[in-house]
Amino acid sequence: MSDIRIRAASRIDLPRLTEIYNHYVVHTPVTFDVEPYSVERRAAWFDQFSESGRYRLLVADEGRVLVGYAGTTRFRPKAAYETTVEATVYCAPGTEGRGIGTRLYSALFEAIATEDIHRILAGYVLPNPASAALHERFGFKLVGVFSENGRKLDRYWDVAWTERPLRV
Ligand SMILES: CC(C)(COP(=O)(O)OP(=O)(O)OC[C@H]1O[C@@H](n2cnc3c(N)ncnc32)[C@H](O)[C@@H]1OP(=O)(O)O)[C@@H](O)C(=O)NCCC(=O)NCCS
Repeated sequence: MSDIRIRAASRIDLPRLTEIYNHYVVHTPVTFDVEPYSVERRAAWFDQFSESGRYRLLVADEGRVLVGYAGTTRFRPKAAYETTVEATVYCAPGTEGRGIGTRLYSALFEAIATEDIHRILAGYVLPNPASAALHERFGFKLVGVFSENGRKLDRYWDVAWTERPLRV
Protein backbone atom coordinates (compact mmCIF):
# COMPACT_ATOMS: atom_id res chain seq x y z
CA MET A 1 0.00 0.00 0.00
CA SER A 2 1.35 3.44 -0.85
CA ASP A 3 1.75 6.11 1.77
CA ILE A 4 -1.42 6.38 3.85
CA ARG A 5 -1.51 8.71 6.83
CA ILE A 6 -4.21 8.56 9.51
CA ARG A 7 -5.11 11.72 11.43
CA ALA A 8 -7.98 13.31 13.30
CA ALA A 9 -10.56 14.90 11.02
CA SER A 10 -10.69 18.65 10.76
CA ARG A 11 -13.59 20.88 9.75
CA ILE A 12 -11.94 21.71 6.42
CA ASP A 13 -12.37 18.02 5.52
CA LEU A 14 -16.15 18.32 5.61
CA PRO A 15 -16.73 18.88 1.85
CA ARG A 16 -14.65 15.79 0.97
CA LEU A 17 -16.23 13.73 3.75
CA THR A 18 -19.64 14.71 2.42
CA GLU A 19 -18.63 13.87 -1.15
CA ILE A 20 -17.47 10.37 -0.17
CA TYR A 21 -20.59 9.70 1.90
CA ASN A 22 -22.92 11.02 -0.81
CA HIS A 23 -21.51 8.52 -3.29
CA TYR A 24 -22.76 5.69 -1.08
CA VAL A 25 -26.03 7.50 -0.33
CA VAL A 26 -26.89 7.89 -4.00
CA HIS A 27 -25.47 4.75 -5.60
CA THR A 28 -25.54 1.99 -2.99
CA PRO A 29 -27.60 0.47 -0.20
CA VAL A 30 -24.67 0.49 2.30
CA THR A 31 -26.22 3.44 4.12
CA PHE A 32 -29.96 3.94 4.50
CA ASP A 33 -29.81 7.68 3.86
CA VAL A 34 -31.42 8.20 0.49
CA GLU A 35 -30.94 11.91 -0.21
CA PRO A 36 -27.45 13.34 -0.64
CA TYR A 37 -26.31 15.87 1.98
CA SER A 38 -25.26 19.43 1.36
CA VAL A 39 -22.05 20.27 3.19
CA GLU A 40 -24.05 22.65 5.40
CA ARG A 41 -26.51 19.96 6.41
CA ARG A 42 -23.71 17.45 7.08
CA ALA A 43 -22.16 19.86 9.63
CA ALA A 44 -24.48 18.59 12.38
CA TRP A 45 -23.09 15.09 11.89
CA PHE A 46 -19.52 16.40 11.99
CA ASP A 47 -20.16 18.39 15.16
CA GLN A 48 -20.74 15.26 17.24
CA PHE A 49 -17.04 14.38 17.03
CA SER A 50 -14.17 15.68 19.10
CA GLU A 51 -10.44 15.00 19.43
CA SER A 52 -10.96 13.42 22.84
CA GLY A 53 -13.73 11.42 24.42
CA ARG A 54 -15.93 8.68 23.04
CA TYR A 55 -16.86 10.15 19.70
CA ARG A 56 -13.91 10.43 17.34
CA LEU A 57 -13.50 10.90 13.62
CA LEU A 58 -10.29 9.85 11.88
CA VAL A 59 -9.42 10.27 8.23
CA ALA A 60 -6.94 8.60 5.89
CA ASP A 61 -4.90 10.75 3.52
CA GLU A 62 -3.04 9.44 0.52
CA GLY A 63 -0.76 12.30 -0.43
CA ARG A 64 -3.08 15.30 -0.35
CA VAL A 65 -6.25 13.31 -1.01
CA LEU A 66 -8.59 12.20 1.74
CA VAL A 67 -9.38 8.58 0.88
CA GLY A 68 -11.45 7.37 3.82
CA TYR A 69 -12.76 7.96 7.28
CA ALA A 70 -13.85 6.07 10.36
CA GLY A 71 -15.56 7.22 13.50
CA THR A 72 -17.47 6.39 16.60
CA THR A 73 -20.91 7.84 17.20
CA ARG A 74 -23.46 7.68 19.95
CA PHE A 75 -25.54 4.50 19.65
CA ARG A 76 -28.87 5.79 21.02
CA PRO A 77 -29.76 8.95 22.94
CA LYS A 78 -30.94 7.45 26.25
CA ALA A 79 -28.38 7.94 29.01
CA ALA A 80 -27.58 4.35 29.89
CA TYR A 81 -26.50 3.71 26.30
CA GLU A 82 -23.65 6.17 26.76
CA THR A 83 -21.04 3.42 27.19
CA THR A 84 -21.99 1.90 23.83
CA VAL A 85 -20.72 3.51 20.64
CA GLU A 86 -21.39 2.67 17.02
CA ALA A 87 -18.50 2.43 14.58
CA THR A 88 -18.68 3.71 11.02
CA VAL A 89 -16.14 3.43 8.19
CA TYR A 90 -16.07 4.51 4.54
CA CYS A 91 -13.31 4.38 1.96
CA ALA A 92 -13.48 6.67 -1.05
CA PRO A 93 -14.95 4.90 -4.08
CA GLY A 94 -12.17 3.09 -5.95
CA THR A 95 -9.90 2.78 -2.90
CA GLU A 96 -11.54 -0.25 -1.29
CA GLY A 97 -9.62 -3.45 -0.65
CA ARG A 98 -6.25 -1.74 -0.16
CA GLY A 99 -6.04 -1.92 3.61
CA ILE A 100 -7.31 1.61 4.27
CA GLY A 101 -10.30 0.42 6.33
CA THR A 102 -7.96 -1.72 8.40
CA ARG A 103 -5.61 1.22 9.01
CA LEU A 104 -8.51 3.45 9.99
CA TYR A 105 -10.07 0.97 12.40
CA SER A 106 -6.68 0.15 13.99
CA ALA A 107 -6.08 3.82 14.71
CA LEU A 108 -9.66 4.46 15.79
CA PHE A 109 -9.80 1.64 18.32
CA GLU A 110 -6.38 2.60 19.64
CA ALA A 111 -7.56 6.20 20.01
CA ILE A 112 -10.58 5.26 22.13
CA ALA A 113 -8.89 2.44 24.06
CA THR A 114 -8.91 4.25 27.38
CA GLU A 115 -12.31 5.92 27.06
CA ASP A 116 -15.29 4.96 29.20
CA ILE A 117 -16.74 2.68 26.53
CA HIS A 118 -17.94 -0.85 27.15
CA ARG A 119 -19.30 -2.00 23.80
CA ILE A 120 -18.68 -1.04 20.17
CA LEU A 121 -21.45 -1.90 17.74
CA ALA A 122 -21.40 -2.00 13.97
CA GLY A 123 -24.23 -2.67 11.56
CA TYR A 124 -23.87 -3.32 7.86
CA VAL A 125 -26.33 -3.92 5.08
CA LEU A 126 -26.11 -7.36 3.51
CA PRO A 127 -24.38 -8.37 1.39
CA ASN A 128 -21.17 -6.48 2.14
CA PRO A 129 -18.28 -8.98 2.19
CA ALA A 130 -15.62 -6.28 2.68
CA SER A 131 -17.41 -4.85 5.70
CA ALA A 132 -18.09 -8.33 7.09
CA ALA A 133 -14.39 -9.26 6.77
CA LEU A 134 -13.23 -5.97 8.26
CA HIS A 135 -15.48 -6.26 11.29
CA GLU A 136 -14.60 -9.90 11.83
CA ARG A 137 -10.91 -9.02 11.69
CA PHE A 138 -11.44 -6.49 14.48
CA GLY A 139 -13.24 -8.94 16.73
CA PHE A 140 -16.85 -8.00 16.07
CA LYS A 141 -19.24 -10.93 16.59
CA LEU A 142 -22.55 -11.24 14.84
CA VAL A 143 -25.47 -10.49 17.16
CA GLY A 144 -28.21 -11.00 14.62
CA VAL A 145 -29.65 -10.01 11.28
CA PHE A 146 -32.68 -7.77 10.91
CA SER A 147 -34.58 -8.95 7.86
CA GLU A 148 -35.76 -6.39 5.32
CA ASN A 149 -34.86 -3.63 7.73
CA GLY A 150 -34.80 -0.87 5.12
CA ARG A 151 -36.12 -0.12 1.64
CA LYS A 152 -33.83 1.55 -0.85
CA LEU A 153 -33.20 1.35 -4.60
CA ASP A 154 -36.56 -0.39 -5.01
CA ARG A 155 -35.98 -3.31 -2.68
CA TYR A 156 -35.69 -4.31 0.97
CA TRP A 157 -32.33 -5.01 2.56
CA ASP A 158 -31.23 -7.09 5.56
CA VAL A 159 -28.92 -5.54 8.15
CA ALA A 160 -26.35 -7.51 10.17
CA TRP A 161 -25.51 -6.14 13.63
CA THR A 162 -22.23 -6.98 15.30
CA GLU A 163 -20.58 -6.07 18.60
CA ARG A 164 -17.28 -6.25 20.43
CA PRO A 165 -15.97 -5.17 23.81
CA LEU A 166 -13.80 -2.04 23.88
CA ARG A 167 -10.72 -4.25 24.04
CA VAL A 168 -10.45 -7.66 22.39
C1 LIG B 1 -16.04 -1.80 4.02
C2 LIG B 1 -14.75 -1.02 3.85
C3 LIG B 1 -14.69 0.14 4.83
C4 LIG B 1 -13.58 -1.98 4.16
O1 LIG B 1 -12.37 -1.27 4.05
P1 LIG B 1 -11.26 -1.75 3.00
O2 LIG B 1 -10.14 -0.79 3.03
O3 LIG B 1 -11.91 -2.00 1.70
O4 LIG B 1 -10.83 -3.13 3.64
P2 LIG B 1 -9.34 -3.69 3.81
O5 LIG B 1 -8.63 -3.59 2.51
O6 LIG B 1 -8.72 -3.04 5.00
O7 LIG B 1 -9.64 -5.20 4.12
C5 LIG B 1 -10.29 -5.63 5.32
C6 LIG B 1 -10.69 -7.06 5.15
O8 LIG B 1 -11.72 -7.15 4.18
C7 LIG B 1 -11.37 -8.04 3.14
N1 LIG B 1 -11.96 -7.52 1.92
C8 LIG B 1 -11.72 -6.31 1.37
N2 LIG B 1 -12.47 -6.16 0.27
C9 LIG B 1 -13.18 -7.30 0.14
C10 LIG B 1 -14.13 -7.75 -0.80
N3 LIG B 1 -14.53 -6.98 -1.82
N4 LIG B 1 -14.67 -8.98 -0.63
C11 LIG B 1 -14.31 -9.76 0.43
N5 LIG B 1 -13.41 -9.37 1.37
C12 LIG B 1 -12.85 -8.16 1.21
C13 LIG B 1 -9.87 -8.02 3.13
O9 LIG B 1 -9.34 -9.20 2.56
C14 LIG B 1 -9.58 -7.94 4.60
O10 LIG B 1 -9.78 -9.22 5.18
P3 LIG B 1 -8.70 -9.87 6.20
O11 LIG B 1 -8.54 -8.86 7.30
O12 LIG B 1 -9.35 -11.12 6.64
O13 LIG B 1 -7.47 -9.99 5.38
C15 LIG B 1 -14.58 -0.49 2.38
O14 LIG B 1 -14.54 -1.58 1.49
C16 LIG B 1 -15.67 0.48 1.98
O15 LIG B 1 -15.58 1.66 2.27
N6 LIG B 1 -16.70 -0.04 1.30
C17 LIG B 1 -17.77 0.79 0.81
C18 LIG B 1 -18.52 1.52 1.92
C19 LIG B 1 -18.97 0.56 2.99
O16 LIG B 1 -19.51 -0.49 2.72
N7 LIG B 1 -18.73 0.98 4.24
C20 LIG B 1 -19.08 0.20 5.38
C21 LIG B 1 -20.48 0.44 5.74
S1 LIG B 1 -20.92 -0.60 7.10
